[in-house]
Amino acid sequence: MPPAGSIRRSCARLVRPTPPALNLASPARRFIPISAACQTRPSSHSPMGAPPSNPRKTVTLSTLRSLHKKGDPITMLTAHDFPSAHVADHAGMDMILVGDSLAMVALGMEDTSEILLEEMLLHCRSVARATQSAFTVGDLPMGTYEISPQQALGTAIRYIKEGRVQGIKLEGGKEMAPTIRKITTAGIPVLGHIGLTPQRQNALGGFRVQARTSDGALRLLEDALAVQEAGCFAVVLEAVPAEVAALVTQKLSIPTIGIGAGAGCSGQVLVQTDMVGNFPPGRYIPRFVKQYGDVWGEAKRAIEAYRDDVKSGRYPAPEHTYPMSREELDAFSEAIKDV
Ligand code: KIV
Repeated sequence: MPPAGSIRRSCARLVRPTPPALNLASPARRFIPISAACQTRPSSHSPMGAPPSNPRKTVTLSTLRSLHKKGDPITMLTAHDFPSAHVADHAGMDMILVGDSLAMVALGMEDTSEILLEEMLLHCRSVARATQSAFTVGDLPMGTYEISPQQALGTAIRYIKEGRVQGIKLEGGKEMAPTIRKITTAGIPVLGHIGLTPQRQNALGGFRVQARTSDGALRLLEDALAVQEAGCFAVVLEAVPAEVAALVTQKLSIPTIGIGAGAGCSGQVLVQTDMVGNFPPGRYIPRFVKQYGDVWGEAKRAIEAYRDDVKSGRYPAPEHTYPMSREELDAFSEAIKDV
């Protein structure tokens, strides 16, 4: 690597008049303005692009409480990596969840029970780096919190220290109350998750709608009250009839965040890949998902256009290449003449 001074000196040698117009068909296109020749190029690897800027205020637990008090619905979306968190944050989500659904939708696993703690932590860190305003929550994966409240607290602490998220989510109702109490008394915010709990799908007989009977709805309310009492700042209600979710919401003082639970909840959460349409046509999507975009279609169109351009020689065009001065090129051609 030459010292900076010598680079500056060689730049000075390159000064030539700027050509009147860039005619791509003529050899004159090799003449480029000196400012361009000496520019360093920014890395293309940061999805942030420009330095981070976000005019939104940081969302804290008191922001969420005040939204709930005002009856202003809380918006939550999953993000599984830096770009998906970056866009969710900039689009104004109040909360971003690193859900263990990432096992299936981002890592292609069969179900959520397969994902490991270290894998979740890696994704939590990337989401946390991209999130400037939203309140971030990481999902504890199966096997990392059920054995004892101590085990759960140990895992929750790793989420805060290593995953860099602000709160954790865990599945389960009243049986998890001592665990939730242990974590919240250590100062870690806990988001509960009751109704359909995907980590227990084998015991539930699959992804089934819950609380469809009066007894089932009563159990759901008991669970909701127990996790509230144990210190949860909010609770996810998944796949329960809308009327039940609305009544449970009315009985609680903490917000409910619905997914497949109707409009009577205090907020909503969806899996980002589902709602932006990042999957091929024909793939099964649950009834409660509203698809707001067609990311699959747009990405496929772009990749096909790139393929066609490369095959036909349309890409890369001269504007996608790095320029060199005429003198240097001539010198190089001269030097290799006899090679
Ligand atoms: O894993 C997940 O994405 C969830 C949801 C509540 C969406 O738990």
